[in-house]
Amino acid sequence: MPGPATPVLKSVSSESSDPAPRARGPSVRKRSLVGVDSGKPLLEVRGVTLQYKTQDHLVTATYRVDFSVPPGDRFVVLGPSGCGKSTILKAVGGYMQPTEGEIRLKGELITKPGPDRIMVFQEFDQLLPWKTVRENVVFPLVTTGKYKGKMADEKAMEAIAKVKLTKFADSYPHTLSGGMKQRVAIARGMAMEPDILLMDEPFAALDALTRVRMQDELLSLWDETQFTVLFVTHSIPEAIKIGSRILLLSPHPGQVKAELNSSGAAAAGDAAFVALQNRIHDMLFAERVEDGRATP
Ligand SMILES: Nc1ncnc2c1ncn2[C@@H]1O[C@H](COP(=O)(O)OP(=O)(O)OP(=O)(O)O)[C@@H](O)[C@H]1O
Ligand SMILES: [Mg+2]
Repeated sequence: MPGPATPVLKSVSSESSDPAPRARGPSVRKRSLVGVDSGKPLLEVRGVTLQYKTQDHLVTATYRVDFSVPPGDRFVVLGPSGCGKSTILKAVGGYMQPTEGEIRLKGELITKPGPDRIMVFQEFDQLLPWKTVRENVVFPLVTTGKYKGKMADEKAMEAIAKVKLTKFADSYPHTLSGGMKQRVAIARGMAMEPDILLMDEPFAALDALTRVRMQDELLSLWDETQFTVLFVTHSIPEAIKIGSRILLLSPHPGQVKAELNSSGAAAAGDAAFVALQNRIHDMLFAERVEDGRATP
């Protein structure tokens, strides 16, 4: 197995998961979508190296990445473009297998995709254009056999209500704004009641104002249901706002640079927010110097 193209960064820092209160919502988890003890991790990623084989070479996307996500966490993977964030989500989704290491969900090795892990992407065209909002949400419930008939319809409408789109249940995707389509995609994912929602830069294609509103909506949805989310972004402010923990990855190939407890940072006022933002920025900047690729 070839090593990474850049030097291995040894300065992995980690912080205790608890001290600060959660930024949002009650400190007691009302409901977990998973049937596991809250002490145990829901998702475990251990020493995971992910590679793509192209025609003439091997691309190492991530190198020996470790992290674990407890139930009810808003776990953010943050790193620069090309550091392997989407690749990690693909592997957690079961769409690719690690070259090295393993990924477990509720203790079970992930070997293939499953309805216990639902992905929400950044693209607006992830909905079926010939189906209404309601039909888009019902579709995976029925095709996976999770629910059928009236029950599927009820579950779909519940999820649509949570993202505040009841009035648009019978509308077609082309009549909705980008933000609304994204909410339908989230509702579709939530309706499946997955153990973990995988979100790959879900708001990156939205304008700045809609993006902020979507972040707020995601957080209030989380306050209501306490679902577990693995959220990928390359925006530092978004990571701090959304995350209860942030995994910081080094540039290509992605390695764990640090894992930070960010719960409370967004609610602790502008100064704490900016301090954490600067700290993360410095870590990214320091790395560019360390790996010798920065221009002086
Ligand atoms: N299908 C593929 N075949 C070959 N190489 C790939 C493939 N997909 C991704 N890569 C490479 O793997 C590395 C990680 O890609 P990935 O898409 O996971 O990065 P990312 O962190 O999600 O970036 P971005 O923030 O731009 O979305 C990159 O070097 C990329 O070129
Ligand atoms: Mg990506």
